[in-house]
Amino acid sequence: MTLEGRNTREEHNMSHGRFSYRLILLVWIWVFFGSFFPSKSYHGRPLLINFGDSNSDTGGILAGTGLPIGLPHGITYFHRGTGRLGDGRLVIDFFCEYLNLTFLSPYLDSLAPNFSSGVNFAVSGATTLPQFVPFALDVQVRQFIRFKNRSLELLSQGPGDFIGEDGFRNALYMVDIGENDLLLALYASNLTYAPVVAKIPSFLAEIKLAIQNIHQYGGRKFWIHNTGPLGCAPKELALHPHNNTDLDKIGCLRVHNDVAKAFNRGLRAICKEIRSELKDATIVYVDMYSVKYNLFAKYKTYGFEEPLMACCGYGGPPNNYNVKATCGQPGYSICNNVSRAIVWDGVHYTDAANRVVATTILSTHYSTPPVKLDQFWPA
Ligand SMILES: *[C@@H]1O[C@H](CO)[C@@H](O)[C@H](O)[C@H]1NC(C)=O
Ligand SMILES: *[C@@H]1O[C@H](CO)[C@@H](O)[C@H](O)[C@H]1NC(C)=O
Ligand SMILES: *[C@@H]1O[C@H](CO)[C@@H](O)[C@H](O)[C@H]1NC(C)=O
Ligand SMILES: *[C@@H]1O[C@H](CO)[C@@H](O)[C@H](O)[C@H]1NC(C)=O
Ligand SMILES: *[C@@H]1O[C@H](CO)[C@@H](O)[C@H](O)[C@H]1NC(C)=O
Ligand SMILES: *[C@@H]1O[C@H](CO)[C@@H](O)[C@H](O)[C@H]1NC(C)=O
Repeated sequence: MTLEGRNTREEHNMSHGRFSYRLILLVWIWVFFGSFFPSKSYHGRPLLINFGDSNSDTGGILAGTGLPIGLPHGITYFHRGTGRLGDGRLVIDFFCEYLNLTFLSPYLDSLAPNFSSGVNFAVSGATTLPQFVPFALDVQVRQFIRFKNRSLELLSQGPGDFIGEDGFRNALYMVDIGENDLLLALYASNLTYAPVVAKIPSFLAEIKLAIQNIHQYGGRKFWIHNTGPLGCAPKELALHPHNNTDLDKIGCLRVHNDVAKAFNRGLRAICKEIRSELKDATIVYVDMYSVKYNLFAKYKTYGFEEPLMACCGYGGPPNNYNVKATCGQPGYSICNNVSRAIVWDGVHYTDAANRVVATTILSTHYSTPPVKLDQFWPA
């Protein structure tokens, strides 16, 4: 607020007589004492620390493996390859915009990273299991522990642009992983439900362990995305021959979505368990599945077309996906209007779809408990 603005407002209040005057006095007393007894509820500035796979990879796979992810990825928003899989921003980028943060740098960025908004450990293709391979969830958490240790070490040597102990305590720790574990298990079982579901507890145990470890290293606020409707991905529909009995009512592969739902039931239960074990932690569980499934089910409401077709790919209807000419490989083409497509390359969502997903999540209607993103850092 400008000084001018304040004067005008006070004059305005005065003109309303004694009631306003008392109100000003009260506010003044509150401000006065407030400055002597800083509110315990001050939570610093927003910081996001993220773990996951391509759903939230802002350049980790490019930095970590050199895998050349260039245009047409990024074509809509960044106009260059950033390592993000998609034509533009990811859900986490929209969260950053909402919080007025610059986009997160990948932890692995060795050239001019900027960790002032937080740090991103997510890497495309990442799984929860097996452990100790790049860049599984446990490796990402180990990298976080190293990152925190080194940040504090550097801070202790002198001033610098590093996250401090307070920052780490007040940061929001986000996790979005599991999709690749489920897909690999589905492929390994020739798309059979039971063997995949049998593996889910081991995936969930890794996520629980990650949260416990981050908590042990000072994390107190967690934001956990469940997994999306894998069976609606044009790539999956194109790769696996199917008939109508394999599809649900909107044309998505049933077995894929059933294992995703089983995983999500387990993840919800894990979050509940952790809430009772870590009393000083806040765990928000976000039902990404429902948010994304609604895009496919009610695509017209959101202004989308051809929900089960990749925008960037080859082959035309029904899925515009061909494993020999995927998005970026010779032969691909891009749909007329990317902002009318939900899925970009057969797997990853478009900037337009991610915007709708992020906005829907920010409504809190799909969050348990329904905490608003910016409520983690009350002024
Ligand atoms: C972000 O900045 C805008 C414009 O300055 C402001 O209205 C909004 O409240 C800010 N949002 C948050 C979450 O701080
Ligand atoms: C990092 O980003 C912040 C926020 O945009 C900015 O204020 C700061 O100058 C940047 N730091 C560097 C070293 O570029
Ligand atoms: C960082 O790690 C070193 C070596 O493991 C350890 O001695 C030190 O106490 C750690 N520092 C912090 C701040 O955790
Ligand atoms: C996988 O399942 C399909 C259809 O159910 C069948 O045609 C194929 O032979 C199976 N492949 C293997 C390796 O079991
Ligand atoms: C559909 O395909 C499945 C195997 O994927 C097969 O078991 C079933 O008999 C087929 N149904 C029809 C109606 O063709
Ligand atoms: C693409 O679709 C969006 C959303 O429906 C629309 O606003 C825009 O005008 C379209 N652009 C073109 C070039 O048709």
